[in-house]
Formats: sequence, C-alpha cells, structure tokens
Amino acid sequence: MPSLNDLARRHTDLSDADLERLHLLLADWQLLADLAFSDLVLWLPTWNGSGYIAGAQMRPTTGATVFGDDLVGSFLPKGRRPLLDEATDLGRIVHSRTEYALAPAEAIPVRGEGGRVAAVIARHVDPAVIRTRGRLETAYVEVADQLSRMIAEGTFPMSGGLHGLDTSPRAGDGLVRLENDGTATYASPNALSAYRRLGLAADLVGSRLDVVTRQLASRRGPVDEDLAAVAGGRAARGVEVEGKGTFVQLRSIPIIAAGVRVGAVVLVRDVTDLRRRERELLTKDATIREIHHRVKNNLQTVAALLRLQARRLTVPEGRAALEEAVRRVGSIALVHELLSTTLDESLPFDQVAERVISAVTELASGGGQVHLVRSGSFGVIPADVATPLAVVLSELVQNAVEHGLDGRPGTLEVGATRVEDRLLVEVADDGVGLPEGFDPLTSDRLGLQIVRTLVEGELGGQLALTRRVAGGTSVTLNLPLT
Ligand SMILES: Nc1ncnc2c1ncn2[C@@H]1O[C@H](COP(=O)(O)OP(=O)(O)OP(=O)(O)O)[C@@H](O)[C@H]1O
Ligand SMILES: [Mg+2]
Repeated sequence: MPSLNDLARRHTDLSDADLERLHLLLADWQLLADLAFSDLVLWLPTWNGSGYIAGAQMRPTTGATVFGDDLVGSFLPKGRRPLLDEATDLGRIVHSRTEYALAPAEAIPVRGEGGRVAAVIARHVDPAVIRTRGRLETAYVEVADQLSRMIAEGTFPMSGGLHGLDTSPRAGDGLVRLENDGTATYASPNALSAYRRLGLAADLVGSRLDVVTRQLASRRGPVDEDLAAVAGGRAARGVEVEGKGTFVQLRSIPIIAAGVRVGAVVLVRDVTDLRRRERELLTKDATIREIHHRVKNNLQTVAALLRLQARRLTVPEGRAALEEAVRRVGSIALVHELLSTTLDESLPFDQVAERVISAVTELASGGGQVHLVRSGSFGVIPADVATPLAVVLSELVQNAVEHGLDGRPGTLEVGATRVEDRLLVEVADDGVGLPEGFDPLTSDRLGLQIVRTLVEGELGGQLALTRRVAGGTSVTLNLPLT
C-alpha cells in the first residue's frame, strides 16, 4: 500500500508542513474513529482540482466497519460526493441528510499550513448503530463531535499531546469528561474501574478529577503540579499515576471551541500489566547475568582443581596436558565473565581477544620476546559464537607461540575484519613454519582437532592453514555470524 507521503507527493501540492499536520492527525485517528463509531477516510484534494485521493483510512474498533475494501490510493472525482466539495470549499463541517452507510455522514475539513484546507475527512457510519445509543455511546459521540469541530478549526491535534505516554490511550480504555474547572461530568465504566483500582471509594462524577487523582497518587512532590494540570484538563499531554500497585496513564485533551477552552476529555488507561511485564523482564535479565557469573565461577573452580592436580603429577607430559586444559577452561570462563557484565546476548569481542592473547603470550612465551601486532576489529559477536571463538583463538595463538616461534623472539599477528555478515580472522607468526608434509587432517594432536571441530562443526565456517612465503604460518578463519 502506498504511504501518505508517496500519495501526497504524486497527486497533491501539499507542503511538508501540511503533511506534518496530517501525520499528527493520523496519530490520533483511531481515537476519533472509535469515539465516533465510524469509518474515517482522509481525502487529499489533487493538485489540479479534479478530485481527491484517499490518503488514509481507519476503521472503528468499537463497532462494525462499513468498508470491506481498502480505499487508500483510490481516486474520487469532484462532484461525486458534494459533501466533500462543500466542506473543502467552505472550510467547515458539513453534515449529510441521507442515511446511507457508504455515503459519508459528515465531511470534516483538516487545516494545514497557514490554516488552509489540506484534506477532508469523510466520516461514514452505519445508520443502525446510531439508533441504539446508550449513555457511553452518547458521551463518545459528543466528544467525537467536539474533536471534529476542533479539527475543522485547526486546534486538534495538538503537538506534544502524546508526550509522557507509551502509546495513545484508546477510547475503549476509559474516558472522563470534565468541565472547565476539572469537575467530572461523565466517566465511562472502564475509567471508573481504573480509578477504583487506584483506591477510589466514591464516585467520579461530580468530583474534581485533579483533586481526586492527587489524593490517590502515591508519589508526591514536584510531579504534583504536572499531574494536576493533566488530570484537571488544563494541559494537553500525558501523565502516569501510581496508587495501590496500580499504574494508570492519563491523557488529557482540552476542548477548545472558537478559541476558548470549554472543558476537557481525559482518557484513562490501566497499564499495570505492562509495568509488571517490564519488571519481570528486568528480573529475567538480572537472572541471566547471574547465571553467567556462576558459570564463570564454576569454570574457575574447575581450572583450579586441574591446576592442583597438574602440580602433583610427576610425568611431564601429563602435567603439560592438564595445564593445557586449564588454559582452555580459562578461555571459556573469560567469555562468561564478560557476558555477566552486559545485558546483551552479544559482546564486543576485541576485549576477549586481547585477554586470550595476553594469557597465552605471558605464560607460554618461555622467556622469548613475542611482538604482537593487532589489526582490525572483531566487532560485536553473538554470545553463542563468542565462546567457541575464544577457545579457537586461544589454540591458534598457543600454537603460534609454542611451535612457530618456539621460544625465539618473533612476531605474532592477529587480525579481524567484518565483511557483511561474515567474520574473517587471521592468526599468523613468522616462525619456523608447519612441519614438512604436515597434514592437519591426519594429525593425532588435540589442539587443531578442537579448532576444526569448533570452526567447521559448531560455527559453520572454514579454516585454512598455509605456509607463509616469508616464513612462518598463517591460519585463517571465515565464519558466518548469522
Ligand atoms: N603456528 C605453527 N607453526 C608451526 N607449526 C605448527 C603451528 N601450528 C601448528 N603446528 C604444528 O601442528 C601440530 C599440531 O598442532 P595442534 O595444535 O593440533 O597440536 P599441539 O599444539 O602439538 O598439541 P596441543 O595443541 O594438543 O597441545 C603441532 O604439533 C605443530 O607441529
Ligand atoms: Mg596446539
């Protein structure tokens, strides 16, 4: 479906300022449709005056729609719906006398830049709905009429009207009508229920909403003024009230007729469930962090036990094997340590790489000087990739230092680049190079087997070992990150 901006640009001469007003209107569009129990169609006059393009359409959630089809993008020639022409030309609301759902019951001009008519709203209603009005329906329709008049006068919507709210409260959430001094003249059942949950014992009608809300709100202090201004219908914005464990959002719309404030409508939404879910998510985050923390602690315990056992061994080979295991466990613990400090399921890997590299070079260099050259960046890596990658990196760096440089001074290069959604890593040394005829596939040693299993199996990437022309070994990894 084409967007309002697309349609306007192609078929009308509306300015950016006009469109801004129209978008502001569309933000409150659902509310108007619901209060009026009507389908709304926003018609944009075409630049050559030949007719209108349907720029947007909204169905009521409070009643049946009269349109089965989408109208957006369709063209209506001038003269087909005289109601629209009249509203556009006269700049005021025009009512229909016919009772036929597909013909608009009302045409409301919408003001754009400098007060000119930028669009016209056609309001369609099923005549059957109007005949069966209760108190709630009557109140809703009256408010809808007031808002429509404000649209025609250019005083609704007001910019900043949704300030302080998660989303715009809907008519179905609850509605209170106020007189100019803040006294409630009507409260819908849902609005009354929300106030009951806040702790209200008496009725809302007849009392001043700002006074009542202030008494019920448990938080006090400088917010009070703001709260009173919104609940009293004097300020056009939103505010959240908490009382007795219930969270309620209020949105007030001052009603202005011919430039004078005559009262207000306050929409009331119980957001307690929303807040509760947010709190649950927060505790879930904290739990995940705690789990990572404990995994790290457990791994450190395992490493300590292995180190203890290594010390008791007299067979050098066994001892070296256990020390290797300590290093491998340590690399995994490192990733969990970093995960336990972030909220995300991904982490900047450069820190991990740095610590893995220094853990190996410090311990295993055997007195030789290792000159480290780092290039590029690993960037942010998903947690499930980070753990195997840390182990792989640790193995490769270990090999470069242990076999390549073999205790002699030399250079260790570790580079990383992101190419689209792949990560390329190179670990290289300028040491003795791979043994003549070395085939990693038939090697019975553990290190490269672990590397291969993790890279090809777990991470779904590729691994390549090459002898460098200038001497030394280069190992490259190509890993997918999604
Ligand atoms: N950067 C390198 N330079 C020279 N030779 C290497 C290099 N990396 C690996 N090799 C050779 O490949 C062999 C296999 O390496 P691998 O990591 O699988 O085992 P290891 O290092 O000998 O033992 P482990 O890693 O299990 O402690 C090594 O023994 C070594 O001969
Ligand atoms: Mg090795």
